[in-house]
Amino acid sequence: MTAAALPIVRTVSALRQATQPWRRAGETIGLVPTMGALHAGHLALVERSVRECARSVATIFVNPKQFDRQEDLKKYPRGEARDARLLAENACNLLFAPDVEEMYPAGFSSSVAVTGVSDVLDGVHRPGHFTGVTTVVCKLLLQALPDRAYFGEKDFQQLTVVKRMARDLDIPVEIVPVPTVREADGLALSSRNVHLTPEQRAVAPLLHRVMQEIAAELADGETPASLLIPEGQMRLGTAGFTKIDYLALHAADDLAPLARVDRPARLFAAAWLGTTRLIDNIPVQPRS
Ligand code: PAF
Repeated sequence: MTAAALPIVRTVSALRQATQPWRRAGETIGLVPTMGALHAGHLALVERSVRECARSVATIFVNPKQFDRQEDLKKYPRGEARDARLLAENACNLLFAPDVEEMYPAGFSSSVAVTGVSDVLDGVHRPGHFTGVTTVVCKLLLQALPDRAYFGEKDFQQLTVVKRMARDLDIPVEIVPVPTVREADGLALSSRNVHLTPEQRAVAPLLHRVMQEIAAELADGETPASLLIPEGQMRLGTAGFTKIDYLALHAADDLAPLARVDRPARLFAAAWLGTTRLIDNIPVQPRS
């Protein structure tokens, strides 16, 4: 049986008109913010929202404010018809797909910035990125007024920054983390993976493998990160990664840099294969 077509709204007022009756009827609303080019990682967010909420709203908006490189924005994969079909098949109730003018009308001059957790890792390598993310996510939360909003752990720093924003600004929403979905060979799913050549795709899973090996040694606590990480970087470089932005150990809660695993931590990586930037992160628990 084919799923019924998904209702699509493109304006904030149409979104509010569609969601208000649900809210008035006391139905919980789940929000899944995306930039489209949906894959199984996004569908895991939708599936979780559908399981936990009476109504699920997905958003597709390729947010120009969070791209630090114009060529990345230009080549970001798009395909709304396919995305809408996938959302319908996964029991999503509504798609909000505004255009740039709807989200940022002429004269738009506000931004939401979260300091501290935004200033490390991608905050260093992608200037302005997190302010773009928090500005658009804050708007989406205020536009849809969901009870819960779903974010993937694949973008763990984004998840941390969004959680901090919601807490600091008293936005009445529960931010729900959803585990990273991986290919069978360990590569984290990402909309950007379509840009990998067959040769780069063959090398890409090494990132996760090297991270797992480093994480296991870090958890043992015998060898410090300062020795294990340069060795890992060298292995990635030798295998064909063209640039490594970071391979780094940080605390899982406030993202402070760590030398050893003396509290719950995560190992983070951002590395390039040609013009494609891959990011990944995995938990590292201290052995007690
Ligand atoms: O993770 C993403 O796809 C984006 O950063 C988000 C959360 C939809 C904001 O544009």
